[in-house]
Amino acid sequence: MRHETEITLTVNGRDYEVRVEPRRTLADTLRDECGLTGTNSGCEHGICGSCTVLADGDPVRACLMFAVQAQGKQIRTVEGLADGDRLHPLQQAFIDHHGLQCGFCTPGFLMLAAGVLEREPGISDADLREALSSNLCRCTGYQNILKAVRAAAAQMRAGNRG
Ligand code: FES
Ligand code: FES
Repeated sequence: MRHETEITLTVNGRDYEVRVEPRRTLADTLRDECGLTGTNSGCEHGICGSCTVLADGDPVRACLMFAVQAQGKQIRTVEGLADGDRLHPLQQAFIDHHGLQCGFCTPGFLMLAAGVLEREPGISDADLREALSSNLCRCTGYQNILKAVRAAAAQMRAGNRG
């Protein structure tokens, strides 16, 4: 017999009341119960980072967090990055610097970079490379992702936060 529990998730500032089994991951819940399919599931065991979202500002692997653990946290996903029609500087920079090819890894990289840059706007290049190394991309060779994030960091430091 399925044991489901009712929880409220706060995602991009909006509350979602959902019924989930306690073992249901945040990634699956965001996609299937909240209809927020921008968060991708790749490896589903914490390796690739394609499911990265922000939880109270910290980048987390949504495939490693149970939805029930996300209650009470402010969750942010790629759907919340743009301000209406206005792209976030990171999104614009990924377009301008060709930071994606197939795009599967992109939501995870965007949320990872958003969390890192919001916490540490003046992050050193070495530390930025280290932070971004936690996510995998099978297409780009990483150089254009780095270029895009560096460009967005400069924009965000200049006060354009999207
Ligand atoms: Fe979560 Fe790969 S799907 S880390
Ligand atoms: Fe294809 Fe990164 S753009 S995996």
